[in-house]
Amino acid sequence: MANPPFLIVAIDGGAASGKSSSARLLADRFDLLHVDTGSFYRHITAELLRRGVPSSDLKALQAALAAMQFSTQIEGRSARMLIDGQPAGDEIRSEEVNGHVSHYAAIPEVRQKLLGYQRGLADVARQHRLRGLVMEGRDIGSVIFPDAGCRFFLHADPLERAKRRAAEGRQDSIAERDRLDTSRKTSPLKCPSGAIDIDSTHLTLAQVVEQMSAIIATKLAPA
Ligand code: DC
Repeated sequence: MANPPFLIVAIDGGAASGKSSSARLLADRFDLLHVDTGSFYRHITAELLRRGVPSSDLKALQAALAAMQFSTQIEGRSARMLIDGQPAGDEIRSEEVNGHVSHYAAIPEVRQKLLGYQRGLADVARQHRLRGLVMEGRDIGSVIFPDAGCRFFLHADPLERAKRRAAEGRQDSIAERDRLDTSRKTSPLKCPSGAIDIDSTHLTLAQVVEQMSAIIATKLAPA
């Protein structure tokens, strides 16, 4: 019998563009593994800050990265990355991490360390008999899975995004992170050619998810 289809959905976009909320809903609707790659960069950042390794000290950073072991814990339909067996704590959403994460994420060695790990999560989804994975980040449709079955790019007006963060009761340096994420040399945030560009400024979350679902359903029926 032929293998059932396995679908990779890539969602990229700036800070607070609605990636996480829509990815979670899509994972439930289509029985996909949800992967929030921003949380991986945040976890590494929190760990490097805890160890006192500044983003400016490339030698210390390389040594720290070389020693880090990544593994995965599945909670419901979400993949959590463990570093040396430890899950990320609440501090990954702190102002301190918000302020540093884009600096660490711009370093090619950090991105390289995560590249194979992120691609390997497709096998983790298969092992858990899920029908695919939905991975959100900044370079998923451009670098990690350029051949993904569906690639979306979400954007929204910066004022609207700031409002969304405030409504969540969170402080975030959205504009500064976007500036750093779009201007870095390695894997900058950009809408990859061929990706479906959705402007969510005047859309509700449900409307965004409906648009994406209609496209995904052409490849995979809802679970
Ligand atoms: O999605 P987020 O806002 O939690 O991501 C935190 C930071 O991680 C973001 O400012 C840039 C970086 N990041 C990245 O460079 N590439 C990804 N695929 C995901 C996140």
